[in-house]
Amino acid sequence: MVLLFISGFHRPQGWQRLLAEELPDLDFRVWADETGDPADIDFALVWDPPMGELARYPNLKAIFSLAAGSDHLLKDPALPEVPLIRMVDPALISGMNEFVIHHVLHFHRRFDVFEERQRRREWKELPAADTACRRVGVMGLGAIGSAVAGKLGGLGFAVAGWSRSAKEIGDVESFDGEDALIPFLNRTEILICLLPLTPATEGIINKETLAALPEGAYVINCARGGHLVEDDLLAALDSGRLAGAALDVFRAEPLPREHPFWRHPKVVVTPHIASLTVPRTAIPHIVENIRRIENGQPPTNQVSRERGY
Ligand code: GLV
Repeated sequence: MVLLFISGFHRPQGWQRLLAEELPDLDFRVWADETGDPADIDFALVWDPPMGELARYPNLKAIFSLAAGSDHLLKDPALPEVPLIRMVDPALISGMNEFVIHHVLHFHRRFDVFEERQRRREWKELPAADTACRRVGVMGLGAIGSAVAGKLGGLGFAVAGWSRSAKEIGDVESFDGEDALIPFLNRTEILICLLPLTPATEGIINKETLAALPEGAYVINCARGGHLVEDDLLAALDSGRLAGAALDVFRAEPLPREHPFWRHPKVVVTPHIASLTVPRTAIPHIVENIRRIENGQPPTNQVSRERGY
């Protein structure tokens, strides 16, 4: 069995070592130097491969995504017709929980305002923040979005979720389908985007949807840069309608040095680190699926090409 690792971002060493412990017969090759004969390759473990690259392997049995999102694969028109398997990793979920909770608490308790006041050496309090009345909204209730919504509910926030189909998650108020988007936004003071990027969600945070948020709302985007129309967000921040944003993902990554987000007083920028796959916790799922495929069983957690996630 041969697995080809393709990523310009993830380091192969940890994956190689831990996969060898579980599957000693697996020949782990790192693209491009170690690829060898393309006909040897059974499995690919990849992040953002060059367009057309995966079509070069005639005996490929499955493609494993190194990321939760599959847009980096589905954008390739030459993607071979083999099962595409999304990353399922408990560390991806806990990482996202931490990232979102950090920013929600930051905005809810107005630490953005206090940081500004400290710079002016201004000793001035604000009225108490009422957690149960703070309306937080999560767009996208997949494995990660549902976990985040549940955790925020556990902290006592008034949480709602918006997704394609209705979901039941504890006390989370469910909004589903296109018609429910504006009502969901109307009640959301802190908006968190955890949607998959598909043609239907591209540019979903735009002038019109931002205008549906209440005055003084915050936006946290930790899904994909393509969800946000960046100029529309800048306009809403600059006009004072929105109070702030935490952005981990951007249309162009790395974020160009001249981009206004870098120096915007209301924007927190992080370099696409909201949550990262951890080999130790991700490998059991990959190993199980390699075994299933080798035993002629269908793999779990396949991406639907039709839905786009
Ligand atoms: C990272 O962006 C991921 O999709 O896991």
